[in-house]
Amino acid sequence: MDSPLVAPPRPLPLFDLKSEQASFAAELRRRLDAVLAHCQFILGPEVAELEDRLAAYCGARHCIGVSSGTDALVIAFMAEGIGPGDAVFLPAFTYTATAEVPLLLGAKPVFVDIDPRTFQIDPADLVRRIETVRAAGTLRPRALIGVDLFGQPADWPALNAIATREGLFTLDDCAQSFGATLRNQRLGTLTDATAVSFFPTKPLGGYGDGGALFTESDERAALYRSLRSHGEGGTRYEVLRIGINGRLDTMQAAVLLARLTVFDTALATRERIARAYDRHLAGIVETPARVPESTSVWAIYSVLLPSSEARARAQAALKEAGIGSNIYYPRPLHLQPAYRDQHDGSPLPISEAIANRILALPMHPGLEEEDVARIAEVLRSAS
Ligand SMILES: Cc1ncc(COP(=O)(O)O)c(C=O)c1O
Repeated sequence: MDSPLVAPPRPLPLFDLKSEQASFAAELRRRLDAVLAHCQFILGPEVAELEDRLAAYCGARHCIGVSSGTDALVIAFMAEGIGPGDAVFLPAFTYTATAEVPLLLGAKPVFVDIDPRTFQIDPADLVRRIETVRAAGTLRPRALIGVDLFGQPADWPALNAIATREGLFTLDDCAQSFGATLRNQRLGTLTDATAVSFFPTKPLGGYGDGGALFTESDERAALYRSLRSHGEGGTRYEVLRIGINGRLDTMQAAVLLARLTVFDTALATRERIARAYDRHLAGIVETPARVPESTSVWAIYSVLLPSSEARARAQAALKEAGIGSNIYYPRPLHLQPAYRDQHDGSPLPISEAIANRILALPMHPGLEEEDVARIAEVLRSAS
């Protein structure tokens, strides 16, 4: 007798933009049609509408739409005049954009280690690194870029206390974590400026590049608006300063307005999936620790394997089973060829150890509990 046909288990990609699109498809079509009808592709009405909605969403006074998360960081630093002779403190364990921005402007990145449980920048190491820079006497401690890694907030109460004491400008690299909260406050208002990315795979992503800056300062907001449009003044052809082409385009704003309608539901689903992972993975791999008094948007759900060999086995088994995974980040920045010469040799042992053991698992609102159980089973049999 023929054996009954059994459907193979469905592939589980790391991200799944297609399945998420289905949840706001009608609104997306309506929004895109509106842009096609008015044809104001640069700074059309959707950009201002999105800025108002996002500012209200996180309780910030100003939101300025820009062309990417990287340009948000660049514009924030241009506005402060950060450049040669300035030391900018930032975590060694982050995406390259965080560190390339100070270098693009002639400033020096100073790498800080991370907390081994939450993977966020370690305030105690920040204090040590500031002391080292002050003792060397060649650079002026000028700014801190704290990164809210993987969807969780950095320890902003501790970081802000240090920054205030040391007179540092605080820039929250919230590229991965828009929508997260700390002590019941949404990220966006906790620092001098907050930079967000709308890269498509972010929990609130567009369908191309995009970003935003948030600030409580009227002066900074005016500067950011000018800098994103070539340094323009009161009129388009009055040039007050050197700026960039850093505008958020209207199509992306339209996509984001549509995606915003399902954002809270998507975040609730991500939280449910994260909890399912915690339960199913207990005793198999080390699950991510929660930052106290916070909520996460779970941009990335990363676990720790016992060693790089165990991680390689796990990744191979997941691949074999049609399950996506990725390593964020396989090398801390101070060990990257582009940054090696920037580093003063201070030890960053936690960043190095975590880079060898970390592994991101599928995380998107299209996952079901049974998918999570299947992923856990594959990891269990590979361990
Ligand atoms: C921590 C961090 N900072 C900055 C960026 C840059 O954002 P974008 O790709 O929108 O320029 C990213 C993007 O992934 C990021 O993860």
